[in-house]
Amino acid sequence: MDVKGKLAIITGSGMGLGKAFATKLLEAGAMVCISDLDETTGLQTTTEFSEKFGKDKVHFIKCNVLQKDDIVNLYESCEKHFGKTVDIFCNNAGINHVRGGKGGLIVNTASLAGILFGLDKESACYVVAKHGVVALTRTLGIICPC
Ligand SMILES: NC(=O)c1ccc[n+]([C@@H]2O[C@H](COP(=O)([O-])OP(=O)(O)OC[C@H]3O[C@@H](n4cnc5c(N)ncnc54)[C@H](O)[C@@H]3O)[C@@H](O)[C@H]2O)c1
Repeated sequence: MDVKGKLAIITGSGMGLGKAFATKLLEAGAMVCISDLDETTGLQTTTEFSEKFGKDKVHFIKCNVLQKDDIVNLYESCEKHFGKTVDIFCNNAGINHVRGGKGGLIVNTASLAGILFGLDKESACYVVAKHGVVALTRTLGIICPC
């Protein structure tokens, strides 16, 4: 998929996999809205990306994906800042409330734990949660195909 000029939001992108996804999208010419519960990390990452890719390519909005109001604010503030609709939404920090949007691509970060089971007792909750992510993604793929 050609993402040049596309606008992406990535939740939990202050560090870890979310930051790695942001790097790849920016390298491919997309604009990325960095979003994280942790403002310090999110702003550090945004400054780092601004210096590397340009200030107009990246923006930070604080968002706790567990809070519906934060999600609504994330979408609206992102579109207002960049002056265009969101093309790609990466549910990296976890699944948030399903929200009617204007279309686009939704990417949910699952895990091998979303398709395997019987790993160990300690990861039972993680396995259950990630199976849910896979099931939700597949269900939405059938209900709302692109
Ligand atoms: N790291 C792995 O090996 C691995 C493997 C498979 C799947 N995953 C999945 O990838 C995703 C990211 O994992 P990671 O290892 O990069 O994590 P991480 O801990 O390195 O980074 C997670 C980021 O999310 C932010 N965050 C946490 N709770 C949040 C919330 N409620 N709202 C918004 N932001 C929040 C944190 O502040 C942090 O910046 C998770 O969904 C995880 O299950 C990770």
